[in-house]
This record gives sequence, structure tokens and C-alpha cells, in this order.
Amino acid sequence: MAEFVKVGVLSSLPDPGRVTVEIGDRVVVLFRVGGDLHCLDDVCTHDGGPLGDGPLDGHQIVCPRHGARFDIRTGKALTMPATEDTATHEVHVDGDDIYVRLRD
Ligand code: FES
Repeated sequence: MAEFVKVGVLSSLPDPGRVTVEIGDRVVVLFRVGGDLHCLDDVCTHDGGPLGDGPLDGHQIVCPRHGARFDIRTGKALTMPATEDTATHEVHVDGDDIYVRLRD
């Protein structure tokens, strides 16, 4: 199982806000909404669009390419043209430090 990796600090991430982070060869997006943190692959399952570049609507991220929506809490694909969920990753906070552990 992957280890937790420090990806940033809480004090520099606005709420609502997001930051795109590279962990190894993977790009993920860390969201902060309503005091909670969520981490997703920065990849739309429709055609690889960069989810982190899309507008955030509550707990939904809208793919900037063709408009599919995903729930940032679960990675669930909510609207067409995406039909597959995107991967979510585990987030842990220790003091001001934010850590992410990649799921396979
Ligand atoms: S690449 Fe995201 S909706 Fe098409």
C-alpha cells in the first residue's frame, strides 16, 4: 500500500479552493470545501480532461472539456458524457500539514 505523502499546508489552501499536485507520475487535485478535504485523480474518465481546471459547483467539479460532473467526495461520475467514476485518494491532516495516500 502507498505511503502518505505531504502535499501542502492547510493555511495556504482557501475554502473553497483546490490545488493540483503531482505525486510520482500521478496528478491529483486536492479540494477544500466546507472545511473538508477531498482528493481525486486530475483525470476525467470521459476523455482525460483535467478536472482541476474546471469550475467547482458546491461538491461537484465540472470537466472543462465536455462538462461531465463528478462528486468530489466520492469520485462518482454524475452526468454524461462520463460514465465511469474517477479515483479518489485518502487525505490526512496533521496540524497544518496535508497528506495524501494514493489508492491503486
Ligand atoms: S473529457 Fe471530461 S467530459 Fe469529456
